[in-house]
Amino acid sequence: MWCFGILFTLSSLAYSLGEELTILPALKQYWVIKGSTLNLTCRHNGTQSSQEHALSFWKSNTQISTGNGVTVNIFAVADTQDVTRTIRTLVITKSDVQFSDGVLYKCILGQNVGNFKGEADIQVKVVEFKSAEYEIPPENEKKKDTNLPPTREKLIIECNASGMSSSDGSFTVTTKWLKVSEGKEQFLENSTKYTIFVENRTLEISDPGREDAGEYRCVLVFNKDDKASYQEVRSQPFNVRAVPKIETHDKNKNLVQEDTLELRCTASGFPKPTITWKKDGQALNQTERIHPKEERLVIYNLGFDDKGEYQCVASHSQFNETASATMLVRVKDKLAALWPFLGIVAEVIVLCIIIFIYEKKRSKQLESEEDAPDGQDNPGDNRAGVRRRN
Ligand SMILES: *[C@@H]1O[C@H](CO)[C@@H](O)[C@H](O)[C@H]1NC(C)=O
Ligand SMILES: *[C@@H]1O[C@H](CO)[C@@H](O)[C@H](O)[C@H]1NC(C)=O
Ligand SMILES: *[C@@H]1O[C@H](CO)[C@@H](O)[C@H](O)[C@H]1NC(C)=O
Ligand SMILES: *[C@@H]1O[C@H](CO)[C@@H](O)[C@H](O)[C@H]1NC(C)=O
Ligand SMILES: *[C@@H]1O[C@H](CO)[C@@H](O)[C@H](O)[C@H]1NC(C)=O
Ligand SMILES: *[C@@H]1O[C@H](CO)[C@@H](O)[C@H](O)[C@H]1NC(C)=O
Ligand SMILES: *[C@@H]1O[C@H](CO)[C@@H](O)[C@H](O)[C@H]1NC(C)=O
Repeated sequence: MWCFGILFTLSSLAYSLGEELTILPALKQYWVIKGSTLNLTCRHNGTQSSQEHALSFWKSNTQISTGNGVTVNIFAVADTQDVTRTIRTLVITKSDVQFSDGVLYKCILGQNVGNFKGEADIQVKVVEFKSAEYEIPPENEKKKDTNLPPTREKLIIECNASGMSSSDGSFTVTTKWLKVSEGKEQFLENSTKYTIFVENRTLEISDPGREDAGEYRCVLVFNKDDKASYQEVRSQPFNVRAVPKIETHDKNKNLVQEDTLELRCTASGFPKPTITWKKDGQALNQTERIHPKEERLVIYNLGFDDKGEYQCVASHSQFNETASATMLVRVKDKLAALWPFLGIVAEVIVLCIIIFIYEKKRSKQLESEEDAPDGQDNPGDNRAGVRRRN
């Protein structure tokens, strides 16, 4: 009797639990951003015989079907590890999620909500972020260059989220902040630069400068202490913009005909500006000889016409302001360097000739002096004359 009792309890327990259904994501509570796409998957790893029972998703007492931005798909594949079993999945996808989609979803194996062999559920919740744009105050940059204190000391980014009325005790939430720059993510911590206020979900950036421009996101951490509902939800980006600025550029260049000209220029700003090149105010276009490629301009086989004022211009469609730097390029005749050299050579030759002629004359004179009688004054011997006077 006692033994029967246990058997009875076990079988009824198995029945009430039903066949095993799993919902993905494997969370009791699932937060989705308003406007995004909700995907729910219900999986049944059952015996062949249970195939006669249908899988279905329900929202309250209404079965979810295709239409109104919802698609429902069912897949069945044989279990590779156990051929007597079949894995069946039911996937519902709802695009452009609204607050009204934040309800309890049930997946059922069976005929309907009142008559099923298995059941699983998930609570969907919807959160909305209000995006905002920020800008590094340009006066801060100017002040930095002159070492004066900045006028605006703090940039405050607020993670403005709705759909999370705190009176609802069904979840807990805390906030983390993330900065994304050049594809790298960095979680922010309280420091001299950042202050993170958890209660009002704000991030304060002190002494904001150009280096602070970039993409910030707040990360809502739901149910930190409950493994079954722990979830991190990233907000849309809060962009902190900075106007384009030229950071480095080449100096003026003196080149010779047929040389290759290479000019470089780098710029900063957020969103990252693009660099274009101008010559004497005219946009430079790509040709076989001219290659304006972002930070680098190359011109092969220089001619006289290539001399002029080159300009790199950093711009982005989000800003009216552009930044530019000018570089002067001079192009000299290939033989230009040769002329002074030839001049010097000619000078040397002329000098040599003069010396040669002089020396020849002098030696002739000396010869005729030796021939002349002794004691007769030599008009060329000045030094002898000077010595005598002393
Ligand atoms: C939802 O599922 C569809 C189809 O399975 C997939 O293409 C899409 O990337 C999924 N979306 C999300 C947000 O997971
Ligand atoms: C399906 O269930 C069987 C029995 O529990 C198990 O051996 C098999 O690995 C499961 N397959 C999958 C894909 O979960
Ligand atoms: C946050 O969002 C609410 C609702 O749209 C809005 O009234 C409020 O002004 C926003 N706060 C900030 C700081 O943007
Ligand atoms: C950061 O510091 C502020 C002010 O001191 C404090 O209120 C806040 O809780 C701190 N945040 C974190 C994440 O420790
Ligand atoms: C957020 O809270 C902190 C301290 O609680 C306060 O100093 C700060 O001004 C608040 N920020 C906003 C934007 O309300
Ligand atoms: C480059 O192309 C643009 C438009 O295609 C034109 O307006 C400009 O004059 C060209 N610049 C030169 C130097 O040819
Ligand atoms: C950019 O210029 C346009 C037209 O001149 C003007 O309407 C707009 O307000 C300017 N934007 C900024 C950010 O200065």
